Amino acid sequence: MDKLLIEGGTRLAGEIAISGAKNAALPILCAALLTKEPVTFTNVPRLNDIGTLLRLLEQMGVKVERDGDRVTLDAGGVANPVAPYELVKTMRASILVLGPLVARFGSAKVSLPGGCAIGARPVDQHIKGLQAMGATVKVEHGYVNAECPRLKGARLFTDMVTVTGTENLMMAACLADGETVIENAAREPEVVDLANCLVAMGARISGAGGDVIRIQGVKELHGATHRVMPDRIETGTYLCAAAVTGGEVRLTNTSSSYLDAVIDKLMDAGCEVFSERDAIRLKAPARLQAVSLRTAPYPAFPTDMQAQFMALNAVAEGTAVIRETIFENRFMHAVELQRLGADIRIDGNTAFVKGVAGLQGATVMATDLRASASLVIAGLVAEGSTIIERIYHLDRGYENLEAKLAALGARVERLK
Ligand code: EPZ
Repeated sequence: MDKLLIEGGTRLAGEIAISGAKNAALPILCAALLTKEPVTFTNVPRLNDIGTLLRLLEQMGVKVERDGDRVTLDAGGVANPVAPYELVKTMRASILVLGPLVARFGSAKVSLPGGCAIGARPVDQHIKGLQAMGATVKVEHGYVNAECPRLKGARLFTDMVTVTGTENLMMAACLADGETVIENAAREPEVVDLANCLVAMGARISGAGGDVIRIQGVKELHGATHRVMPDRIETGTYLCAAAVTGGEVRLTNTSSSYLDAVIDKLMDAGCEVFSERDAIRLKAPARLQAVSLRTAPYPAFPTDMQAQFMALNAVAEGTAVIRETIFENRFMHAVELQRLGADIRIDGNTAFVKGVAGLQGATVMATDLRASASLVIAGLVAEGSTIIERIYHLDRGYENLEAKLAALGARVERLK
């Protein structure tokens, strides 16, 4: 397995381009299943998760053409609406094919995604919503089997805010008979980007970005071209990396408009942040101030930035209180950060991070995507060498990570 070697201590400075959003591209690629016409997507990030999903779609019979960040999918010849365990277990978001398959083909057999390091990750809300729209859903032998000749519009209410739950049900509702109303919908920008893509394909959707989304079902959708939005979590990750190294960076092909909660915290920590039309600049202070935070659904502070801020607080002045309210086990990075010298105490879903003067390089292990990002951030500021093991987690969500860090002056090397 690959490892990442980081020599800490360099200030990050310079400019890099941000890639398309993984968590927008994943549902958007699945939306191609809703039409028999080809759909073209641009600004699709080259990530392992994207590759896995494209393989999954291909084995269903979707024709896939890929040219750099441009992907064209043609689901005209899908003959096999099945998502097998071998592929789904490596990429949970494969559950996003469920809604489109039932809506277009009247049946779907999708492996349960199973849990992952950060939590059980159940999909009961996805199933409950499809049942409310008339699908017969059986969960047996680790698979979700859903059947319905034609879904009927319904009023859906999710018990908690669920991003992919909202996305699955919104896609299914596009071809249902009548109106569907999703209440308690996720407001994440990636949900809005998916809605914009579906509307370009002929869907009739209003309210995306709010907590009530209305979808008028139509008979069929048509082809379209859609550019995936910038990755706000990749953006936030590099902003944190610049912040901890006392650096000054400019990130292009991105926007600050989906990162208000994160930018507020970076400014509270003492950073200067400048927003441009499609770029964002950060100038870090000599020493960061600790910032407490509580994760919650958008537009509140995103859970996907919690690990990165734990690394930032590890070297900030003062004590930060971090509360994780979305996932039940998303502090795995804490013990690894402690190996680097961080002073962190965990009490249930709350972490108390007491800033230390400096971290010392060590060998640490990545456990999940954003935990690995927090180890990279800590390695950049730790004194000496840090080796991060199991960096396949990083490759799932960060395109060209070493190249982008090196372009900002980091001393980083991938060890095969
Ligand atoms: C999406 O996951 C993201 N993934 C996650 O990003 C992100 O952390 C998460 O939303 C929260 O923002 C993608 O978009 C591909 P949820 P998702 O359904 O949709 C519970 C990353 O690092 N729940 O919003 O799976 C669930 O257990 C990844 O890029 C149910 O109980 O998250 C969790 O506690 C990690 N039943 C909470 O709701 C359900 O049916 C929110 O989960 C669905 C969810």
